Amino acid sequence: MSKPIRKAILPVAGLGTRFLPATKAVPKEMLTVVDRPVVQHVVDEALAAGIEHIVFVTGRNKAVIEDHFDRQFELERTLEGRGKLKELEQLDRDTPQAGTTSFTRQQLPLGLGHAVWCARDIIGDEPFALLLPDMLHMGRNGKGCLANMVEAYAKTGGNVVSVYEVPDDQTHQYGIVGTGEKKAEGVHAITQMVEKPKPGTAPTNLAISGRYILQPAIFDLLAKQEAGAGGEIQLTDSMLKLQESEPFYAVTFDGAIYDCGSKIGFLMANVAYALSRPDIAPQFRAELQGVLAGN
Ligand code: UTP
Repeated sequence: MSKPIRKAILPVAGLGTRFLPATKAVPKEMLTVVDRPVVQHVVDEALAAGIEHIVFVTGRNKAVIEDHFDRQFELERTLEGRGKLKELEQLDRDTPQAGTTSFTRQQLPLGLGHAVWCARDIIGDEPFALLLPDMLHMGRNGKGCLANMVEAYAKTGGNVVSVYEVPDDQTHQYGIVGTGEKKAEGVHAITQMVEKPKPGTAPTNLAISGRYILQPAIFDLLAKQEAGAGGEIQLTDSMLKLQESEPFYAVTFDGAIYDCGSKIGFLMANVAYALSRPDIAPQFRAELQGVLAGN
């Protein structure tokens, strides 16, 4: 039987250059989609998949993320004193239990592969989930992306990545997989992985969406610290090496994905999440229609 997935890595040490100047002092993971920071949405997804411990790989200027997941004693007492019990309960629900988070620093932004490697001691010798916190996954079946992957992993074991269809003329911007045998509904063996294939050469239009379940052998490969594309230590390079000895599976994500590290993705996430919230959707929809109509 496959070892269960108990821990998740959230790498939050990137510079967020696509979102300057907003990300000069505020980490991009703390920008809000409706009233929750982007990173909180992703933590929600991890917890819904049964994750027990979250490892944040942070960097300079990111201390506010650690504060966000801590208790705010003065705020709690003030809310209590003012009888704002609904807000207090919400804060309580969103604060992780003591001892269920770890924070480690990636001292230099040397690439995603390096950020993952920084969490090796905290993860130890067990499979883990990796969620890129700027990619928001809004599932159509009400179930989170990672929860679906964990379900697939229980059947397949090995390494699992989530994929989604991108337009054929955009495959060169993504990590693309080639798929083979079907293992279950929406789950296929991966035969190939190509990082940003040259236009016209992609084996499929299935792009890796930023959710992974990986075996701990990846850490030994990442330890070699070999720089790849863009001079960065790339996760995909080590995944390709791992694929020589371990199987990889693709779970096709059924839903919408918003890249909140890009301006349009972030704006669309706000629109989609606001329209999915019963408390604000009616008024938001009406006002948005007014803006679109030029009123
Ligand atoms: P991105 O390339 O999207 O993030 O990395 P970035 O570097 O912050 O953004 P831009 O391109 O400059 O706008 C994907 C994920 O990997 C993390 C990022 O925080 C993001 O969640 N990452 C990337 C690290 O933690 N460390 C790195 O060295 C690079």
